[in-house]
Amino acid sequence: MFYVMTVMFCGCKKLLKITLWNLFWIVSFLTLATIYWNYNENYSEVVNASENPLIIWWTDGFPGSAETKYCSNNIKCDVFTIGNQTKLHNVAAYLFYGSSINFDNLPLPRRPKDLIWGLYHEESPRNTEELLSENVLQLFNFSATYSRYSDVHFPLQYLNSFEDITDTTYFVKTKDKDELLNEIAPIMYLQSDCETSTERDLYVQELMKFIKIDSYGACLNNKHLPSKFKRDYLNNLNEELFLKFIARYKFVISIENGVCEDYITEKFWRAIKVGSVPIYFGSPSIRDWLPNNKSAVLLEDYPSPKLMSEHLYKLLKNNNLYEEYLEHKIMQKISNRKLVEEFRSNPTQIDTLKTTNKFECLICENIHDKINGKSAVNVVTKKHYNCPKPISALTLKVNPNNNWVFSRDFAIEKANNIYNKIMNEH
Ligand SMILES: *[C@@H]1O[C@H](CO)[C@@H](O)[C@H](O)[C@H]1NC(C)=O
Ligand SMILES: *[C@@H]1O[C@H](CO)[C@@H](O)[C@H](O)[C@H]1NC(C)=O
Ligand SMILES: *[C@@H]1O[C@H](CO)[C@@H](O)[C@H](O)[C@H]1NC(C)=O
Ligand SMILES: *[C@@H]1O[C@H](CO)[C@@H](O)[C@H](O)[C@H]1NC(C)=O
Repeated sequence: MFYVMTVMFCGCKKLLKITLWNLFWIVSFLTLATIYWNYNENYSEVVNASENPLIIWWTDGFPGSAETKYCSNNIKCDVFTIGNQTKLHNVAAYLFYGSSINFDNLPLPRRPKDLIWGLYHEESPRNTEELLSENVLQLFNFSATYSRYSDVHFPLQYLNSFEDITDTTYFVKTKDKDELLNEIAPIMYLQSDCETSTERDLYVQELMKFIKIDSYGACLNNKHLPSKFKRDYLNNLNEELFLKFIARYKFVISIENGVCEDYITEKFWRAIKVGSVPIYFGSPSIRDWLPNNKSAVLLEDYPSPKLMSEHLYKLLKNNNLYEEYLEHKIMQKISNRKLVEEFRSNPTQIDTLKTTNKFECLICENIHDKINGKSAVNVVTKKHYNCPKPISALTLKVNPNNNWVFSRDFAIEKANNIYNKIMNEH
């Protein structure tokens, strides 16, 4: 390609010179590739020879680091993602990406006096249920999770930017939404994960008996998306056209697939961004992060589909009442100091790479503290990943017949056995 460009842009005299220059690049590239190849072959030896304290991501894939990390106070550590194949002699800390942990393949023995373990997890419990065991959490010394109590926390991970809260790019005025009610329902539902621990579908199905809901996803589908969205729409939910599409609705169902403290996903923040009112269920402490007291209609305040529908009808009949839920758009108001302060003091939480970096440096600092004889003990607790038994949106109680409740109990038992085995090994 470079060659073609030189022909296009240069006279013929220059051509030879630039081609030689290209040759230089090709040779350099090949040399580097060869070095890299050898480096990879001898990877474990290279890591083994590391002079700085060594931090290893034991799980594969995330974040793919292979570098010397420079942290505050002039300290540094070498951080490598190596997957689960190599045991190394000089490791100071192992880090684990929650969704990829294989509990049958851990770097054992645990050696708690020598080794720090760190857990990074940003998901609901459904893909790694073992982490619901308080015992298993205690295998780790530091955590990075969405819980506000985690060492590196990111409860606002899905708030793309603080400006989104008051931004009116997508906002549709109430009287325009009123007119749209001739074409669309007042409420939108869009989900393709239909069997959740929160029994989201059961709830929406009940609510539909009282009030009209347009459901576009695979779950309870009753309406087709316009053809412009059909192709791969699930991966395009944040595109401008789609946000405009959602913004026409007065309400959006925002029910999480799991109940965990501070587990708040884009289902909530997308509604806030476009200026539709979320009908929310999920994090038990969601109030702490609402832009204003009334920025969402919470299931717990209207604790049955019938009561919810009565409240929604009230808001549909009275625009003043409805607009109390949209002060962040209409008055550009954010009265929640806690929300403002959390974002101000921890703005990098919306950026996974920066969060990871912060976590790696926290671990690095602790390794150095240990080397310097400062011996604080840290152990991860339930508060760092607090997901109580899943509660049904429909009844606001635990449904013992829900499959997720069953599989959770099973996973915790299995996890407790793993914990006992690990602790008995030394
Ligand atoms: C790492 O170094 C130790 C001690 O120098 C050595 O015993 C071990 O074989 C090395 N491991 C690898 C994978 O090179
Ligand atoms: C992890 O190691 C096990 C065997 O120890 C292997 O079967 C598995 O494929 C490995 N997984 C990855 C992701 O490397
Ligand atoms: C918001 O709610 C909190 C607690 O429920 C209350 O103390 C506060 O006065 C309310 N603020 C406004 C502006 O209504
Ligand atoms: C790390 O956690 C283990 C428990 O899993 C504990 O025994 C050990 O003291 C902790 N180490 C540090 C440095 O906090």
